[in-house]
Amino acid sequence: MCGIFGYIGDKEALPFLLEGLKKLEYRGYDSAGIATLHKGKLFVTKCVGKISELETTLQKKPIGGEVGIGHTRWATHGQPSHVNSHPHEDCKSELVVVHNGIIENYLELRRELADRGHDFRSSTDTEVLAHLIEEKYAGNLLLAVREALLLVRGSYALAVISENDPQKIVAARSGSPLIIGHGEEESFLSSDIPAMLKYTSRITQLENGEMAEITATETRIYDQHGKSLAKTPSLISWDPESAEKGGYSHFMLKEIHEQPSAIRKTIEGRVEADSHKIHFDELNLTEEEIRKVNRVVFTACGTSWHAGLVGEYLFEQLAKLPTEVEYAAEFRYRSPIIDENTLVIAITQSGETADTLAAVWEAKARNAKTIAICNVTGSTIAREAHGVVYTNAGPEIGVASTKAFTTQLTIIYLLAILFGKRRGAISEKEATSLISDLISLPQKVERVLQGESLIETVADTFRSATNALYLGRGKGFPIALEGALKLKEVSYIHAEGYPAAEMKHGPIALIDKNMPVVVLAFSGRRYEKTLGNIEEVKARGGRVIVVASEGDKQIASQADEVIYIPQTSEALSPLLAVIPLQILAYYIAVKRGCHVDQPRNLAKSVTVE
Ligand code: F6R
Repeated sequence: MCGIFGYIGDKEALPFLLEGLKKLEYRGYDSAGIATLHKGKLFVTKCVGKISELETTLQKKPIGGEVGIGHTRWATHGQPSHVNSHPHEDCKSELVVVHNGIIENYLELRRELADRGHDFRSSTDTEVLAHLIEEKYAGNLLLAVREALLLVRGSYALAVISENDPQKIVAARSGSPLIIGHGEEESFLSSDIPAMLKYTSRITQLENGEMAEITATETRIYDQHGKSLAKTPSLISWDPESAEKGGYSHFMLKEIHEQPSAIRKTIEGRVEADSHKIHFDELNLTEEEIRKVNRVVFTACGTSWHAGLVGEYLFEQLAKLPTEVEYAAEFRYRSPIIDENTLVIAITQSGETADTLAAVWEAKARNAKTIAICNVTGSTIAREAHGVVYTNAGPEIGVASTKAFTTQLTIIYLLAILFGKRRGAISEKEATSLISDLISLPQKVERVLQGESLIETVADTFRSATNALYLGRGKGFPIALEGALKLKEVSYIHAEGYPAAEMKHGPIALIDKNMPVVVLAFSGRRYEKTLGNIEEVKARGGRVIVVASEGDKQIASQADEVIYIPQTSEALSPLLAVIPLQILAYYIAVKRGCHVDQPRNLAKSVTVE
């Protein structure tokens, strides 16, 4: 949440800052601002709204300078307004701060600072940082920031520039991500890697508690006690193109279409082509430890939590392991009964979600083994868990998660087979057949994508709905939840996902001719029962849109609209069935004129609790 971008080098900072902030806009977009240092003087421009507003303002009145920091905001403290936008200044307007995170003790600090004569302009928590640094400054900006941070409780990624120390950016991290990019005669600072991939692939991740003093040619990193640290930059292999729209009108659509290749990349190197053997060296678990696992707990938020729900079905079915799924925010504050034989699997696209991170810490504190299923290389959760399995989906920029979800499901499916084999729950032959099904999946995903224009037509009949119900049984239930979530977040239509059998216990009261009901009715042992639910909806005048398996002739006479997916095993059907629902949500949102890649109030990485 909130994006930070910084530049220091031998060129004008402004174009880099604007470009970087545009790439980070998915993290927050209610207001934005930039500060540069030009000939030793600070210039600040900010405005409410998206980066395009800021760009327009800056076109009219550009600010020069070869050092600068920028911020795109997702408001936590203080409503979106000019005065609450970052960067925030000290009393003398000599230094500015941009911040991502929450300063928990800001009220108390603010009171004390105000008593000492500091003049506050905003209602944000961040502004206390500017005043604290001002107070601590005695000729060394890095030292002033460190001393200020000693007084602060909470989470932060921050960047500071000052007229008194104009050839550097000082950065610090505790909780929220911050990455330094090393170019030729220039350095970058960013909340994520894709935003600076165009300029450099040599990066250094700041760890919690670390601070950096960044100049154009050099970066010095220190721990919280001021001890200098020798860190070797890493090279990122993502290609810069993967973070662009590539001809699609939105990242969400591009990412939906990337699913066949993303799933292929996720399988690659983990499954032997001939023998179909599975390798997961990254798990960091010995054979003995795998065999000893007697319980699995998935923990995650949002879409990743839905992947965990599918995981519960798969692990119980294939690995015969008792499995639970927990919202990360609930897990961390309960007293979970877990021990060294529990495997806690944290699922997270970003690897930065605050609650999921805290859930991993909680699991580790209780001696559980932890694995992260994660998309972003080197992210905090990836580093905190005992083992990490990367989804290899490439950067996901659209706020609504699509390819991250299907690649998470791919990993979970493979892990369930691996555990099933090691525990003797499935035979070699069964495992081989399950793997063959997976290998043929990307092609089937391509076929689902070929049906895009039909789904776009279905979206037409749906666009003016105000409510929608999604129903599924078995592994179709998490997909119903995910379909409803996709619709809610991008189109602002209220939608609910339910296990189909639960409909009679309440939601049926809502059904009338204005209520579209999306039913997942792919083949499997619950198919007949799902048909019964469709009849119940039809009998009450509801409009039914069914996702069914190819070859199902019967369904067409019962539903108003049918979207077919290729035949696959029941275990893999969630992976195929979710794709039409992503496309449906996308086109409904486009037809309603919604801002698909940056839905209101949302942010891609939720780095605050
Ligand atoms: C929905 C969506 C969110 C995320 C959730 C967790 O489309 O993207 O619900 O799934 O915020 O994020 P990660 O997976 O990064 O931990």
